[in-house]
Amino acid sequence: MPTPATDAADIQGLVRSGYGQLTAARFLLLRIADTVAARAWLEAAPVTSMAHLDTPQEGTLNIALTCEGLRALRLPEQALGGFSAEFLSGMAGDESRSRRLGDIGANAPDRWRWGTATHMPHLLLLLYATPERLQDWMRTVMAPPWDSAFTVLELLQTATLDQHEPFGFLDGVSQPTIDWTGKPDPAESAHETYSNLVATGEMLLGYPNEYGKYTDRPLLDPALDPAALLPPAEDHPERHDLGRNGCYLVFRQLQQDVGGFWRFLDNEVGGNAEARTRLAEAIVGRQISGAPLLPQTGGPIPGVGPDTDDIRQNSFTFDADADGLVCPLGAHIRRANPRNADLPPGTRGTLSRLLRDLGLVHQALRDDLISSTRFHRMLRRGRDYGVQMSPEAALRAPAAAEAGLHFICLNANISRQFEFVQGAWLAGIAFDGLTGERDPLTAPREGLPGGPPAGVFTMAQTSGLNRRIAGLPQFVTVRGGAYFFLPGLRALRWIAGVHG
Ligand code: HEM
Repeated sequence: MPTPATDAADIQGLVRSGYGQLTAARFLLLRIADTVAARAWLEAAPVTSMAHLDTPQEGTLNIALTCEGLRALRLPEQALGGFSAEFLSGMAGDESRSRRLGDIGANAPDRWRWGTATHMPHLLLLLYATPERLQDWMRTVMAPPWDSAFTVLELLQTATLDQHEPFGFLDGVSQPTIDWTGKPDPAESAHETYSNLVATGEMLLGYPNEYGKYTDRPLLDPALDPAALLPPAEDHPERHDLGRNGCYLVFRQLQQDVGGFWRFLDNEVGGNAEARTRLAEAIVGRQISGAPLLPQTGGPIPGVGPDTDDIRQNSFTFDADADGLVCPLGAHIRRANPRNADLPPGTRGTLSRLLRDLGLVHQALRDDLISSTRFHRMLRRGRDYGVQMSPEAALRAPAAAEAGLHFICLNANISRQFEFVQGAWLAGIAFDGLTGERDPLTAPREGLPGGPPAGVFTMAQTSGLNRRIAGLPQFVTVRGGAYFFLPGLRALRWIAGVHG
């Protein structure tokens, strides 16, 4: 990893890894009971950095804080004011945000278990270990003055990691790759090909992003950091950078109706197991095994930029399936990452670009509804919870115990990354030429006010007639959520040490 050693020791390990070897995890949502004790605990907490991961770990700890948590630790207003508006307002902070995110009806924040005013966590502790080590590791982490410092709002259990989410699909396949070299200036020119490589500043604060700019973050007057714990900001060397090596962490507890999902599909295809699987795969956009739904071109996959990932799993675009005949336009992975470049297919090459710049080429209507993917990537770090079972078992067990996904993602700009993907692409009612439908896998089914419900999934067919599935029930319900700041380790020590 080419990152300078000081930064690797400063960046929390979760940025580099989802800790796949540590198959047990617990997420603790805490309230601060005693500020002095909480600061003392935070200063000594055994937080795992990226550098620690050069050697195998038996247990790891990462820590993130909500805006309310930073206030409870009495962070100076000057520092707080530098965080983004959406972080300060919170995931459930205002009705229009909730509407945009699809947090309506059964998803509405007033039904959440946590993440609203009275149940707002201050801190999130993410603990990972081998199953044998987990209890010991929790005891180690909860060292004095833990008991006086915190009260536990929620202890979120996770299922032992087996890489499959509760509906049964292989999960965590596609992730962006951080370009730690920071070499190319991405803002220089439009990207002609889709690439999985993203600028460091898309995920971490304090580095240039895909626009070649530094995302806004708290930059402090040096008087607030007399011991110079924090590094100077690259773009404002006279200020100390509280954001450097930190990022935002979005957490949503998403309950999955596994029985309801498989029963609906089974009913739709008249009990044919093979057809049931095909329909589920069309909804996700990948096979259960994780393989993407792609046309059988036989040759190299068009439109792919430099990448190191397995070519069939992740280095592909939808250019060869522009009409969604193989992977439906509204499939979950196609909505979550349309895999387009800055220029639509057919407008690459000098002449095409010239014609396009002169306005002589008409873009397809739907190009207007998808903006370049590279500005909307995120690192997914979620873990499942609850009982995991096969589709057959789910069909037989209608009153299954609760299962779901603790959806966690990391990004530098909540509104441009998580909120855009969630609001415009997944929960949005207009996407890629489709109207009146939302993500068939994860979205709520409410339609526009006064309009029909959005429980529809359209699949284009070679015959030209679309196959349209209507009456889709809601398969995923939001049970809680919040926006957190996952600071760099120096920033965490500074936060723990400030005195207000
Ligand atoms: C319970 C809810 C969810 C389930 C069951 C689910 C399931 C899946 C599955 C099976 C995949 C394909 C495998 C992979 O690439 O990892 C996937 C991909 C993905 N999902 Fe979800 N997901 C859920 C919620 C979300 C949410 C809330 C978001 C974002 C706001 C999201 C964003 C993504 C992204 C970005 C990808 C990768 C797309 C790509 O690059 O090809 N998912 N999801």
